[in-house]
Amino acid sequence: MGFLWLSYCSFYALLILVHAANGAQCYNSVTSLRDRKMGESCNMFQGSWIFDDAYPLYESSSCPFIRREFDCKKYARPDDQYLKYRWQPTDCNLPSFAGEDFLRRFKGKKIMFIGDSLSLNFWQSFLCLLRAAVPQVNITNETNESITSFTFQDHEVSVMLFHSLFLVDVETEQLGRILKLDSIKNGDTWKNMDILIFNTYQWWGRKGPKQPWDLIQEGNNTYEDMDRTVAFRKGLTTWAKWVDSDVDFAKTKVFFQGISPSHYNGSDWNDPGVTNCAKETQPVMGSTHPVTYQATTIVKDVLGTIENPVYLLDVTTLSQLRKDAHPSSYNGLGGMDCTHWCIPGLPDTWSQILYAALIHY
Ligand SMILES: *[C@@H]1O[C@H](CO)[C@@H](O)[C@H](O)[C@H]1NC(C)=O
Ligand SMILES: *[C@@H]1O[C@H](CO)[C@@H](O)[C@H](O)[C@H]1NC(C)=O
Ligand SMILES: *[C@@H]1O[C@H](CO)[C@@H](O)[C@H](O)[C@H]1NC(C)=O
Ligand SMILES: *[C@@H]1O[C@H](CO)[C@@H](O)[C@H](O)[C@H]1NC(C)=O
Ligand SMILES: *[C@@H]1O[C@H](CO)[C@@H](O)[C@H](O)[C@H]1NC(C)=O
Repeated sequence: MGFLWLSYCSFYALLILVHAANGAQCYNSVTSLRDRKMGESCNMFQGSWIFDDAYPLYESSSCPFIRREFDCKKYARPDDQYLKYRWQPTDCNLPSFAGEDFLRRFKGKKIMFIGDSLSLNFWQSFLCLLRAAVPQVNITNETNESITSFTFQDHEVSVMLFHSLFLVDVETEQLGRILKLDSIKNGDTWKNMDILIFNTYQWWGRKGPKQPWDLIQEGNNTYEDMDRTVAFRKGLTTWAKWVDSDVDFAKTKVFFQGISPSHYNGSDWNDPGVTNCAKETQPVMGSTHPVTYQATTIVKDVLGTIENPVYLLDVTTLSQLRKDAHPSSYNGLGGMDCTHWCIPGLPDTWSQILYAALIHY
């Protein structure tokens, strides 16, 4: 009981440090407990969605970075309820996103999101939240082959995206495009960063014209194909070994962005026969979702083998509840998209949790 109270209290005490709010009875426990890992004091990933008219945290028109894939308001989404839900963890409150304070604390740092278009989605939300806090500052951008970088000039904070579908390499050779399950050359760029947020999943299952490789290689063996969950586990294991051998944890914090769910099967939310998210304007209420992703189990298994502290942003369940938060047809590409997420929208909660973890972790 005492321990529970202390843990709970420490969370609020930390919030008090951040916000300079009033919370005298917790103050004494701050120093001894401030180094505690966030996860020990509150599971931020367990909770429910609460209607909150103060949301969204910024307007789409105020963020010039939003790509047409995600800018649902601009592409005439008529409802706006989906913008007005706040994630309420069961045992604590998420700290509010204090962007300017964040930029000051992380002055001179390089933050990199690495992965597929779900990393792009997350990165854009994080940038929009930071920009909303400092709308007047000079932000420059640079793009090269695989990196897009936005730098807040006054704070010298760079928020970067590294496009990588599998984290491990795909290389074009005589035989074609080879997915190399035990090679991770881009790690040499990643390890220079201060904060890394990895994600991979969506592309491992793709077949036919959407499969971006011709052969799989592991060691000296090449394969036409293999069980994709096996391949996913092997690729992720290569990444995990790289994290332990190459990342300097005195300098760099490492996160893994949990599996982002899609909403194409109404059976998942008790509406069999529905094949997309087009008519969804409400979240699933409650705290649990019946569908579990095998990939989540693999991610947890592999993360469990890493010696160093890698923080899992375990956003799968809270995102599964948000069948209403995808662009559906309200995007600039013209298709039905129940995989990515509107911005502003759900990824802002991922950003709030990342922020909370960075401030406490
Ligand atoms: C913004 O920063 C860039 C690069 O440092 C500089 O060239 C430019 O003049 C700055 N613009 C403003 C409006 O301060
Ligand atoms: C990147 O900067 C250029 C100016 O250097 C600007 O025209 C462009 O809109 C910026 N890109 C984004 C995505 O903001
Ligand atoms: C792209 O930018 C990164 C970071 O600035 C740099 O390390 C890398 O060499 C650049 N790649 C190319 C092809 O210019
Ligand atoms: C792969 O082939 C090379 C060259 O034939 C050999 O030296 C190496 O030991 C082989 N590696 C494995 C894991 O079998
Ligand atoms: C939707 O989910 C149900 C229940 O898991 C499953 O039986 C069905 O095959 C799925 N439908 C599609 C189109 O994948």
